[in-house]
Amino acid sequence: MPSTLLQTLKAADEARTAVGHFNVSDSVVLQAVASAARESGLPVIVGLSEGERNFFGTHEAAAMVNAIRDSHGQAIFLNADHTHSVESAIAAVKAGFNSVVFDRSALPFEENIRETRNAVQTLKSLNPAVIVEGEIGDIGTGSQIHEKAPDRLVLTTPEEARQFVQETGVDVLSPAVGNMHGMLKSMLQGTTQKRLNVARITEIKAAAGIYMTLHGGSGTNDDDLREAIRSGITVVHVNTEIRVAWKRALQDAFAKDDAEVVPYKLLAEPFRAVQDVVRRRLQLFNSAAVRAHST
Ligand code: 13P
Repeated sequence: MPSTLLQTLKAADEARTAVGHFNVSDSVVLQAVASAARESGLPVIVGLSEGERNFFGTHEAAAMVNAIRDSHGQAIFLNADHTHSVESAIAAVKAGFNSVVFDRSALPFEENIRETRNAVQTLKSLNPAVIVEGEIGDIGTGSQIHEKAPDRLVLTTPEEARQFVQETGVDVLSPAVGNMHGMLKSMLQGTTQKRLNVARITEIKAAAGIYMTLHGGSGTNDDDLREAIRSGITVVHVNTEIRVAWKRALQDAFAKDDAEVVPYKLLAEPFRAVQDVVRRRLQLFNSAAVRAHST
């Protein structure tokens, strides 16, 4: 079994499967993600954005992931998701995070290149094994429920992808390929789904020749996800689906028995709901290669 994140990405890339990345804000959701991955026998990446790190604690999250890895011998990795400053990225690397998504995609392209290149150099000087991901294009912000889709989501071009990768030295690229963060109300109702530009993913993979992450996995059409993974997506991020499952299950737990006050009994319901999301998503991310051979 691959033991480093880099080896895990390489194995997924070669097998045309994807590693699941799930965001967590607290220890209950972290344990649920870890246990579902363990039962599935698959590696997993746990991600915390700057807001999630502020709530959980950067060192606290690292200590818990290390404890889970040690006590279960599990391939579990920790990612500093959507990190907007070098200071915050340094704090995560010093705490032992395995990777950083350095996200300066809101800047003009050339500035994004300059800042990301600096971040890659700084972070790798602290830990040469740390994986740095850079982001280009616009995929909206916020793993939340949105009223409507952003007006204009500009897709990444293969030329920009090649230039960005060559000039920054990132290990992983996050492109804009029809994906967006969060879910629309209509996605919760099941009447719409996110659709991906799979042809663009193939072109970017050929041009940039690098591992690629798909952000905004929640609410995406299953067949598009499988095709995207076959076409070169190596990591898929899921957050809103987890948050929705967590909240619904917690509301159900409260509604079931007004007198219940025992946290571990109430929290058992969201724990199971999150496990269920992670299990189903991991199964899908690992079914692309199988289907590719059988068709
Ligand atoms: P979703 O909330 O749309 O799943 O996106 C999560 C994400 O990309 C976190 O980096």
